[in-house]
Amino acid sequence: MRAFEFYNPTRLIFGRGQLEALKREVPKYGKRVLLVYGGGSIKRSGLYDKVIGILREIGTEVTELSGVEPNPRLSTVHKGVDLCKTNHIDLILAVGGGSVLDCAKAIAVGAKYDGDMWDFAERKAVAQDALPLGTILTMAATGSEMNSGSVITNEKTQEKLGWGSVHAFPAFSILDPENTYSLPKDQTVYGMVDMMSHVLEHYFHLDTNTPVQLGWCETVLRTVIETAPRLIEDLENYELRETIMFCGTMALNGILNMGLAGDWATHNIEHAVSAVYDIPHGGGLAIIFPNWMKHNLQQDVSRFKRLAVNVFHIDPAGKTDEETALEGIQALRDFWTSIGAPSTLKDYDIDASQIGVMADKAVKFGPFGNFAKLQREDVVAIYEASL
Ligand code: NZQ
Ligand code: ZN
Repeated sequence: MRAFEFYNPTRLIFGRGQLEALKREVPKYGKRVLLVYGGGSIKRSGLYDKVIGILREIGTEVTELSGVEPNPRLSTVHKGVDLCKTNHIDLILAVGGGSVLDCAKAIAVGAKYDGDMWDFAERKAVAQDALPLGTILTMAATGSEMNSGSVITNEKTQEKLGWGSVHAFPAFSILDPENTYSLPKDQTVYGMVDMMSHVLEHYFHLDTNTPVQLGWCETVLRTVIETAPRLIEDLENYELRETIMFCGTMALNGILNMGLAGDWATHNIEHAVSAVYDIPHGGGLAIIFPNWMKHNLQQDVSRFKRLAVNVFHIDPAGKTDEETALEGIQALRDFWTSIGAPSTLKDYDIDASQIGVMADKAVKFGPFGNFAKLQREDVVAIYEASL
């Protein structure tokens, strides 16, 4: 393992009926709340009314920012920052999926910064402070509810960049699996692909002596694989939603990757696609990850073989390590296809015309990937294999 320090200050409030915890949590931070949400799903599900009801009951002054886009835009972040400054907001409360949470994180740091928070995404400055943030998660996917990361799209430059800050951890996050019942099947699938991809990013690392971390990763992957086919047939099943919600948080809250540096190239490659084409993040990952795997198989065939055997139950008898490894990659592709995820860029009507543009965006900060270092030509090859 590499030397590490683990710190995660988010109070995770998980389970049925936990919305009530708002009554206890919100007053800790003050009276003026900026309520941030997306395109209306929380109004249709009834969650908005419940949240507003509780906030009124405890005497909160609510300012609203609605319409946060999937792949949240910098211009929406700017609107939120202005609202925080003019209304002297004490607490930001984000209600929604990863996009709403990420937008709220960017508003939280932007509200305490004199410049444009895009400076943090551009690595030109480091956030020094933030408004406190509470979240109510409605979609299991990104892990944003218990991590310090956020991904914002600058629509002017067509860039989608991840950034992070120790100040961006939510102070508290309320996760009631019932709040994910209304999530449609396609988004449920994208969320499960995303959380599996986070685990896979950790799984492919070069650090040695990480048996516990590898085992944890395999457990989370097997659990999603066992749960997903049942969940997509039974979207309002509490236990299945609960399992997936817990997997999503555990996949990216810093626990599985203690003592190791996961790869993370696939996320970077996907972000460049959704910067240009505005496709769902999980859909893009389903297309690209198996192709990243094939491209980097020789980096450590034994790790790919281990995935095949321990997660996909491939029998290695009579096969070379490489054959077993390739069967595992195919099993991942087949699994994602079986639950309805896309498998080629064509599924989103994306052709080869913008590959050069996307590759340039992906290498903006230089060669990348901790398991296998990718140059621009590697990225182009992975896009071409994904067509
Ligand atoms: O906007 P509303 O109306 O709320 O609808 C959303 C949206 O259209 C809908 N939705 C969410 N919960 C729902 C629901 N519809 C019905 N019922 C519910 N309970 O689902 C759609 C997608 O929501 P979004 O928040 O965009 O999805 P997700 O959670 O997958 O977030 C994706 C964003 O997170 C970034 C991605 O790049 C992308 O921008 N990521 C953030 C990470 C992080 N902060 O750590 C890591 C990830 O790897 C990822 O990159
Ligand atoms: Zn992701």
